[in-house]
Amino acid sequence: MKVTVVGAGAVGATCADNIARKELCEELVLLDIKEGISEGKSIDFMQSAALLGSDTKIIGSTNDYKKTAGSKVVIITSGIPRKPGMSREELIGINAGIVKGVTQNILEQSPDAIIIVISNPMDTMTYLALKSSGLPKNRIIGMGGILDSSRFKYYLSTAIGCSMQDLQAVVIGGHGDTTMIPLTRLATYNGTPVSNLLDEGTLKKVAADTMVGGATLTGLLGTSAWYAPGAAGATLVEAIIRDEKKLIPCCVMLDGEYGQKDICIGVPVVIGKNGWEKIIDFKLNDEEQAAFNKSADAVRNMNGALTL
Ligand code: 2OP
Repeated sequence: MKVTVVGAGAVGATCADNIARKELCEELVLLDIKEGISEGKSIDFMQSAALLGSDTKIIGSTNDYKKTAGSKVVIITSGIPRKPGMSREELIGINAGIVKGVTQNILEQSPDAIIIVISNPMDTMTYLALKSSGLPKNRIIGMGGILDSSRFKYYLSTAIGCSMQDLQAVVIGGHGDTTMIPLTRLATYNGTPVSNLLDEGTLKKVAADTMVGGATLTGLLGTSAWYAPGAAGATLVEAIIRDEKKLIPCCVMLDGEYGQKDICIGVPVVIGKNGWEKIIDFKLNDEEQAAFNKSADAVRNMNGALTL
């Protein structure tokens, strides 16, 4: 089994590291356009393999897509990350052309691949990858909600003082600082609603901190985060390769679900060997549905800037 990660920057390399540590595939190709970076990071990982006990073989490739041929899953992280103060949406001008070209190059070598999009603005890049490739919609998955939900659990665990493993918490909508929707009403701590444990003010702050979780780190780091995004990408690869049928919030093409059509946006989906296999209806209340519609309007507006 082969997996390809396109983009050997911090997110792509961390995603590759997570995939190889879990031995999710026999061969992992790490590709970048910048000379030497993917070869260097691949050899660096391979020189840790004896210590980690991993037999996954990571191969670096400077823009040679032939090495990616036959990949089952491809993760697209290429493009520029945001700087402090930037929104993810401001990256569209540069990243759209990159993602469109990468998608075409990948599918020439791996026509049956399932594609995971991480490049920002992710909802719009996912829509671009789907429309430009013409692939069946179930084979294009945008990584956003799973990352935002993990941040949601982090902030909830900090407020409650509990293990993150005991929390169920989901973020849907766009992967944007103002468009994502932490579903506080449905969040639970081993079955009990978190609203039984936290007052409304604290819950609102947890949701607000979650929404800017990425921007907060960009302010601290001077660039986008990479540990959580990389781990989130690897978690999606694992659910596909192991056919886990896990319920994971991801950006997928809607055709009427949640009241939206012809848009890629974050909703709860079942992930398995065929990519995303089913959209789950969480039965939003009026307030949540209104927020989702507003989020969809913002994503659709961003999509309007694309040249398909
Ligand atoms: C983040 O939120 C990179 O969009 C990703 O960190």
